[in-house]
Amino acid sequence: MSRISVVTGGTRGIGAATAIALKERGDTVAAVFGYNEERAKVFTAETGIASYKWDVSDFDACLTGIASVESDLGPVDILINNAGITRDGTVHKMDYENWQAVIDTNLGSCFNMSRAVIEGMRGRKFGRIVNVGSINGQAGQYGQVNYAAAKSGIHGFTKALAQEGAAQGITVNAIAPGYIDTDMVAAVPDRVLDKIIERIPVGRLGKASEIARAIRFLTDDDAGFITGSTLSINGGQHMY
Ligand code: CAA
Repeated sequence: MSRISVVTGGTRGIGAATAIALKERGDTVAAVFGYNEERAKVFTAETGIASYKWDVSDFDACLTGIASVESDLGPVDILINNAGITRDGTVHKMDYENWQAVIDTNLGSCFNMSRAVIEGMRGRKFGRIVNVGSINGQAGQYGQVNYAAAKSGIHGFTKALAQEGAAQGITVNAIAPGYIDTDMVAAVPDRVLDKIIERIPVGRLGKASEIARAIRFLTDDDAGFITGSTLSINGGQHMY
């Protein structure tokens, strides 16, 4: 059966790889992006995947955005909460805006988007939600109090919503990626990143496609007994 899937942060990095993997499975996919219109245009032209622009940290924008996806494509069966930003800096140098922006975008978006689709999923007794957490939400990371707090919150959010969805055919799981070869990780200064790679037993950054294949697995129709779990994919950097 062809499913309707929504991937936030879906036109770049892990989100783009995921959107492509779900399309290859036969899903009809909507890729949500926040600001990089040029990249979204190229992504849609190259993949044929529809892209939608809204700010996932804005609750009302999520309600309106999902309504427009559903009117174009049909009811949403699968939600991948992948959108995320970094505003790295030690707490003594971090301003309030950089704390709040990361909390709102990385964690608030999971509520906003889930709230927009959950009633439909409950009504149809089927849903798959995957939230993209992080190794840094599990282990912490110097200079990432905001990001680690948001990502750690995602892991709790996942387990709580999984309990609410279980009797309704809705599974909720998290992925905890390590350092993946994306624009986000490329923004880490080389001198810092080199030291991080030294601590990855597999000896390299992960690929976005290596996360996407796990998300595809967790969102299959026959993955209904997997819920409330967190799958760590980090090259052995943190064994949780
Ligand atoms: N542990 C202990 N001390 C550390 C440290 C660490 N991990 N990292 C840096 N320090 C120390 C430095 O040695 C330095 O001390 P000295 O001055 O005594 O030498 C001091 O802290 C200041 O370090 P910086 O010069 O790096 O400070 P800065 O203010 O210029 O930059 C920073 C701070 C922005 C946090 C920078 O270190 C940085 O960008 N770190 C990378 C953070 C990171 O890993 N981000 C991940 C982004 S990707 C992502 O988040 C995806 C995902 O899910 C994995």
